[in-house]
Amino acid sequence: MVGSAAEQARAAAELFIESTAGAAAARGQALVALSGGSTAPGLYAALREQPVRGKVPWDKVHLFMGDERCVPVADPRSNWGVAMRELLPHVPVPEEQQHPLQGDADDPLREAARMGVLIRELAGNPPRFDLVLLGLGLDGHLLSLFAGVETSALRGEQSLVRPAAAPLSVEPKVARLTFTPFLLLTARTVVLQVAGAAKAEVLARALKGPEDLVACPAQWLRRASGRVVVIADEAAAKGL
Ligand code: 6PG
Repeated sequence: MVGSAAEQARAAAELFIESTAGAAAARGQALVALSGGSTAPGLYAALREQPVRGKVPWDKVHLFMGDERCVPVADPRSNWGVAMRELLPHVPVPEEQQHPLQGDADDPLREAARMGVLIRELAGNPPRFDLVLLGLGLDGHLLSLFAGVETSALRGEQSLVRPAAAPLSVEPKVARLTFTPFLLLTARTVVLQVAGAAKAEVLARALKGPEDLVACPAQWLRRASGRVVVIADEAAAKGL
C-alpha cells in the first residue's frame, strides 16, 4: 500500500526497472505493455527522471499499449498520444521498438490481427510479456475488457488482440482495441495501479469477491500465472 500518487508512480517505476532489467539480462529484450487511464502520466513522469531513467535498459525495451481508444494519435483521448507526449521524447527507446496500436485504422479487426502477429513474432511461444501495466475501471474493467462481453475469453480464446465496444457507462465513449485475457494470463509480471476511495469496492470485488469473470473482468488477474502486484493507495485499499 502506498500513500501519494507520486509514491504510487515511484513504486510502479521500480517494478518497471526490475522487470525490464531482468528481462534484458535473461532474454536480450523486454516487452512492456503500457496502460491508459489516469495512472499513466504519473508513471511516465517517474520514468523520465533520474536516477530511474538511467536504470532502465531502454535500448532493449519494446513498448506496446495494452489497449487503445479508436481515435487518431493526435486526439487527446489516445493512450499512445499520452506516451508520445510524456514519455517517448524523454527516453531512448528505438523507434522500431515502439509498437502502437493504430487507433484510427480503417479496419480495427485487421489492426488487431496485425498486432497479434507482431506479438507472436516477438514474445515467444506461448507469447509472454515481461510487464503488463494496468489501471482498474470503476465497473471492473481492465484493459478494454468490459463487463458483460468476455464470453469468448471464457471459451478459451487464443487471439491476443481484438476490437472492443465500450459500454455507454464508460468514458470516453469510443471503440477500443485491446489485448485479450490471454496476455494477462501469461505475463511474467502484471502491475495494477489503483487510487481513490471510488475504486475501493471494485478493487475488493476484483481481488476477493465471488468469482464472476463476465461481471468483473478484473478478476482475470486471479488466473495470471506470473507475478501480480497491486499498488493501491489507502483509500482504494480500504475494502481489502
Ligand atoms: C483506458 C484504459 C483503461 C483504464 C481504466 C482505469 O483506455 O481508459 O486503458 O483500462 O486503465 O479505465 O482508468 P483510470 O485509472 O483513469 O480510472
